[in-house]
Amino acid sequence: MSSETKRRLPTGLEGWPLLGTLAAILTVATLAAFASSGGSEGIRMAIRLTARTSLVLFLLAFTASALFRLCPNPWTRWQLRNRRQLGLGFAVSHLLHAIAITALSVTDPILFSALGGSSMLLAGGSAYLVIAAMAATSFDRTAALIGPLAWRRLHLFGAWYIWLSFMVTFGKRAQLDMAYWPFIGVLLGACALRLIFNRLSFPVLRR
Ligand code: HEM
Repeated sequence: MSSETKRRLPTGLEGWPLLGTLAAILTVATLAAFASSGGSEGIRMAIRLTARTSLVLFLLAFTASALFRLCPNPWTRWQLRNRRQLGLGFAVSHLLHAIAITALSVTDPILFSALGGSSMLLAGGSAYLVIAAMAATSFDRTAALIGPLAWRRLHLFGAWYIWLSFMVTFGKRAQLDMAYWPFIGVLLGACALRLIFNRLSFPVLRR
């Protein structure tokens, strides 16, 4: 086996083909979630599914450097090498979340308000602005346009803002339903990993 083949283990999926595959899987899964019940219930399934796929992809990108430092192996090397695509996969997943939210607000505005959709618009909307800015600057050319310092600040701030958004949305549900506690546990674990193993990512704090 050549060293190049070894380097590409364990999944073989890399870079932009990885992002394309993620986007295709996410789209099919969201449509399947909707089709499983149809109507407002199907849309809610799609909203919940995309919130959870977003969490997984976000955490993979968020913890990539820390996990590689903690445990360098072919999996964490793959995760680190593809963190840009994993982050963009998160953005695609959250775009599907937004599409499902819009569908619910149009087809069932009463249920949408009852779920707190309108009050989420401000906090969630600001998170979407951050996600859009991060996604737009995740390409070599656009990253070069804003320069390395602004890029670093935007992506550092954005990563923690998104982490906080997940903590708030899952935290609200965890108060009412213990089934949500594992999500909080995973988010706190990811936070601890970053703080312990990613200290180099905190230039603002080190100054
Ligand atoms: C304009 C912005 C947003 C709106 C209007 C919105 C709306 C909603 C609604 C209505 C639900 C409830 C679905 C249900 O229980 O049937 C939901 C669930 C959720 N959203 Fe969003 N959302 C927004 C942005 C975000 C953002 C930015 C995040 C995180 C970064 C997020 C994470 C979640 C999570 C974690 C859930 C719970 C999923 C579950 O129950 O498993 N949302 N959202």
